[in-house]
Amino acid sequence: MKKISSISLRKMWIEFYLDKDHKEIGSASVIPENDPTVLFTTAGMHPLVPYLMGQKHPQGTRLVNAQKCIRTGDIDEVGDDSHCTFFEMLGNWSLGDYFKKEQIAWSFEFLTSEKYLGIPLKNLAISVFAGDKNASKDEESAKLWIEQGIPKDRIFYLSKEHNWWGPAGQTGPCGPDTEMFFVKDIVDCKKGCDPSCNCGKYLEIWNDVFMQYNKNNEGKFETLAQKNVDTGMGLERTLCVLQGKKSVYETDIFVPIIKKIEEISGQKHGENSEKTKAIRIIADHIRTSVHMIGDIKGITPSNTDQGYVLRRLLRRAIRYANQLNMPKNSIVEVAKTVINTYKDIYKEIGQNQDKILNEIAIEEDRFEKTIKGGLKEFDKLKHYLVGDTISGKAAFKLYDTYGFPLEMTIELAKEHTLKVDVDSFNKCFIEHQAKSSAGSIQKFKGGLADNTAVVTRLHTATHLLHSALKKVLGDDVNQKGSNITEERLRFDFSFNRPMTADEIKKTEDIVNEAIKKDIKIECIEIELGKAKEMGAIGLFGDKYGEKVKVYKIEGYSLEMCGGPHTEKTGELGVFKIVKEQSSSSGVRRIKGVLN
Ligand code: ALA
Repeated sequence: MKKISSISLRKMWIEFYLDKDHKEIGSASVIPENDPTVLFTTAGMHPLVPYLMGQKHPQGTRLVNAQKCIRTGDIDEVGDDSHCTFFEMLGNWSLGDYFKKEQIAWSFEFLTSEKYLGIPLKNLAISVFAGDKNASKDEESAKLWIEQGIPKDRIFYLSKEHNWWGPAGQTGPCGPDTEMFFVKDIVDCKKGCDPSCNCGKYLEIWNDVFMQYNKNNEGKFETLAQKNVDTGMGLERTLCVLQGKKSVYETDIFVPIIKKIEEISGQKHGENSEKTKAIRIIADHIRTSVHMIGDIKGITPSNTDQGYVLRRLLRRAIRYANQLNMPKNSIVEVAKTVINTYKDIYKEIGQNQDKILNEIAIEEDRFEKTIKGGLKEFDKLKHYLVGDTISGKAAFKLYDTYGFPLEMTIELAKEHTLKVDVDSFNKCFIEHQAKSSAGSIQKFKGGLADNTAVVTRLHTATHLLHSALKKVLGDDVNQKGSNITEERLRFDFSFNRPMTADEIKKTEDIVNEAIKKDIKIECIEIELGKAKEMGAIGLFGDKYGEKVKVYKIEGYSLEMCGGPHTEKTGELGVFKIVKEQSSSSGVRRIKGVLN
């Protein structure tokens, strides 16, 4: 087996698939484009959903990339050997092109060939879908693996819970998958153990999904017009296997970051389990925060949506840094090391380094002002507590007055064998939200809005709004964020003062004028450089020669985007700005509706 560095593995992956006629696409943003159902990009397929559903991709039917992904669902597990809130997914896709036969042969080649990973056959195991009422047992994949040379007894048939992937949100493309595991010889589990066992013998490194279904609004599985392949290999986990390490934190990606924390804290990773956990949490959370702030659609800490997740990560990292007696500004130093690790791989990280460091320092300042008071309040609370449960009201006070994210209070409580009444915290939270803004209740309805016709109309209106703002306020106005629900659009843009009533009216008028003209919306597929030359706006990646989609509303807007949009502007109705407010420093936020 080859000892491969992270840089070589990414490169090898891309080259392997370029050799098989794939086109490389850049990593999309970690903030999904106009998808209100999820906060972050969680898999490589996520930005490709429209193409898996049948839309034509400008780069063709075979794609490959490394995608930056964020999954914060398992945040409590961070600190163990393998969980991370940020990871890179190496992926390849067939959009109605090749299927099982090619993909399984290529997976086998990449995993076992000496030219690539060179994993010995004895260390590989495979799982395939066992079948259910919606889809049949995947004998075909099993047969293809056997033809490649995988012994029969190394192929396991597992249920839907294990061998079915997607949809990423409530609805969308999904299908049975076949997963590839690295088998750790040293783990000796009870007889009959298989890859679904938690003993640690089987480590999943790659997943080939055969996406042939669409789960619709009613929860039914419809057959897709095209058969797709969607695969994902976890970069960090695979490195861990290839570099023969026990944890991802010992791989070359993490070593400099961990070293930096050791240097500042004077503690040693691996010596004491509590301290090792703290070191890992700081490393993980700062790494993820750097990617959230430094993204092309970078976010800043706030009390809502993605900004709140970022705030939680930063404050949790700060609390653990305090536990290790790391001085103020330490997390900024850790962030510098993270930036160095990634700046040549994801250019935006280098370009945004000042912003990243600045935002982290500001958040540390903000939190420092309240954390001591909050900890005192917590001690007082603990002292007078009757029983073992902290009330929702008390937890809410810690949140509201001292900026303690709920998870932090729960964690603190756990350390003192106490509980928190989460239900009543949520009630206080919603009551408070209702008081401060009736609109934000929407977020707590759960599930959020679907990609319906309403959302599509609001999306087209967002393009018109973006260009109208540039006309009224000047060309320096740029999109900083966009979020659409069934009720409204929300658009964040760079601008450093409130808009006047006159400017708001002018902006609305321009959008409504375009709607009245009932202009046809054209979609052009061109090379990235040409799109820039044409003056198209939008968040550009930096993959040279990559083809992109540009939506044109003649006379009004030219913007790079994945769609979808309405056919004509006349479908939109009447546009109205219902709110214009500050979002963060130098960024304004507009909420708009279509009546
Ligand atoms: N979309 C698949 C996954 O995330 C490849 O595992």
